Amino acid sequence: MALFRKPAVDEPTEDALLDDIGRRMLKRRVDALKSLPTFPESVLRLNRLLSEDGAKESLQKIAGVIETDPVLCARILRLVNSAFYGVSGAIITVFDALLMLGLDVVKGLVVSTTVSDMFSGRGSALDGLWEHSYGCAIAAGALGRTLGMSRCEELSAAALMHDLGKMVLASQLTDEYRAVVAQAVADGRTIRETEAKMLGVTHDEIGHWLVLRWKLPVSIAEPIARHHEPMKAGKYADTASVVHVADLMIRGYGFGFAGDRIMPMLDEGAWRHLSLNPDKLRTAVRRMQDDLHAAMNHVNTLQTT
Ligand SMILES: [Fe+2]
Ligand SMILES: [Fe+2]
Repeated sequence: MALFRKPAVDEPTEDALLDDIGRRMLKRRVDALKSLPTFPESVLRLNRLLSEDGAKESLQKIAGVIETDPVLCARILRLVNSAFYGVSGAIITVFDALLMLGLDVVKGLVVSTTVSDMFSGRGSALDGLWEHSYGCAIAAGALGRTLGMSRCEELSAAALMHDLGKMVLASQLTDEYRAVVAQAVADGRTIRETEAKMLGVTHDEIGHWLVLRWKLPVSIAEPIARHHEPMKAGKYADTASVVHVADLMIRGYGFGFAGDRIMPMLDEGAWRHLSLNPDKLRTAVRRMQDDLHAAMNHVNTLQTT
């Protein structure tokens, strides 16, 4: 047996080894995201209540839990009043908001509001993402109404949360995700392609893990997981397609920042599935602009009063 081994020609260099170790560490950190994050107790209690079979009879109880968390309560009332239905200022109690939106939507709002709070507390790797998500919710509502769809509030809730995976990546892997965003912009590629290349995982996959873990209603979870491949959303292809198109509408309008400077491809299946045509799309975009202006005016009024 030879005591000394001749180095193999293709033995990894020190740099390659460090790279490999870095990649494996990154993979472990990405995997750890699956068990993230722990939610404030009020949200966990609320999730339990919302999941109970008798939840519909206990609206008052649920409203009571939301009201114990002033930040959550204020955010929900502000969202309900400013964003989706042109009811500015009309909904003044959490109980009314629950009645109007339904439990699934409130659950979605609670989760996205909480994630957004967690996200904004940490120094952001992606400024403008909350605006992108908020704008996408408004675009989805506008598109849903244009297409005469029912349950437009569910469309808005799914759209509000569609980039949940980015929120979590930006808050938990802040430096790495900042590098992903910079690379996507520099390369002129989409953020999703760049995530796959640099992190080995995409934000829609992360979003999928989390919505399953948080037991969100499947009608919202599936569109979040499939917003880039809406025709894979099975019986939720309607909502997933609306979220997909709404994402492009708000990107095209230039409101917020989704993490890249390039427009992703429109999914032709979604276009056909929704029986869209240029006229309908123009109408939806006009509605989105009006709703967005109304929402912004309302937020400005709230901030100055
Ligand atoms: Fe996305
Ligand atoms: Fe997006």
